[in-house]
Amino acid sequence: MTPTALTVAGSDPSGGAGIQADLKTFSALGAYGTAVLTALTAQNTRGVTGVHAVPAAFVGQQLHTLLDDVEVHATKLGMLGSAEVVREVAAVLAARRPGPVVCDPVMVATSGDRLIDDEAVAAVRDDLLPVADLITPNVPEAAALLDVVPATDVDGLLEQARALLGLGPGAVLLKGGHLGGTDSVDVLATATGTTVTRRPRLSTTATHGTGCTLSSAVTALAARAGGRPDWPALVEEARDYLQRSLAAGASLGIGSGHGPVHHFAGIWPA
Ligand SMILES: Nc1ncnc2c1ncn2[C@@H]1O[C@H](COP(=O)(O)OP(=O)(O)OP(=O)(O)O)[C@@H](O)[C@H]1O
Ligand SMILES: [Mg+2]
Repeated sequence: MTPTALTVAGSDPSGGAGIQADLKTFSALGAYGTAVLTALTAQNTRGVTGVHAVPAAFVGQQLHTLLDDVEVHATKLGMLGSAEVVREVAAVLAARRPGPVVCDPVMVATSGDRLIDDEAVAAVRDDLLPVADLITPNVPEAAALLDVVPATDVDGLLEQARALLGLGPGAVLLKGGHLGGTDSVDVLATATGTTVTRRPRLSTTATHGTGCTLSSAVTALAARAGGRPDWPALVEEARDYLQRSLAAGASLGIGSGHGPVHHFAGIWPA
């Protein structure tokens, strides 16, 4: 049986984030990729100039039609946009359980801009987190979900990761990419304890889509592993993949802003 992963997310025409990054990551890590689109964006490596949302009912129709035919072994959720789409996706997932669900609660851009309104944040907190097996917020997203000030150090990450676990997801990977420091530190909280994952912080402008790439890497590995995911092991392997992809990103030379990571580092012919 071919390991099959699903991404539910928006399109990034520049190919570094969103659906495009997720499908590249699934492909690089040996999972067959399927995709349900929630939005089109007009975007390049310098920024987003527009968003065209897919109506919630049609997001639901895409999901049902796909799942009526294709067996999905793990699902990743990226940018969902509105409260209506969040509630629709949560309802379909609760009813159909397409493998472990990795939810990247995309709410706050690296620039600090809020990407979704307060009603959608509340819908993520109340409807989506309880059906997610793993959530992967960044520092400002964790703060928004908990309604507290952002963490500033690893102890703060650990405390907020445990607090997020109390909102209902199976596990929490709180990403510390925004904290700075010589290492980039993420923390994982599960029902059985916490682990800290460190990798040397790489100095590169090719950071477009790091969050999408990490969560889709974990999803692809979960699809391949089958059964109940061993999140600490999958997160370590996903970060190794992201680290290789980040290190090689600048060599692609795509765009003039924050370019993509290289999803096929070590795979493409030299
Ligand atoms: N310069 C870097 N070097 C190594 N790892 C990094 C670097 N920047 C971020 N990371 C890692 O990339 C992943 C994404 O973290 P980050 O906190 O930036 O998420 P994000 O804000 O959701 O990303 P995005 O802006 O792409 O959505 C984490 O595993 C983080 O530790
Ligand atoms: Mg992100």
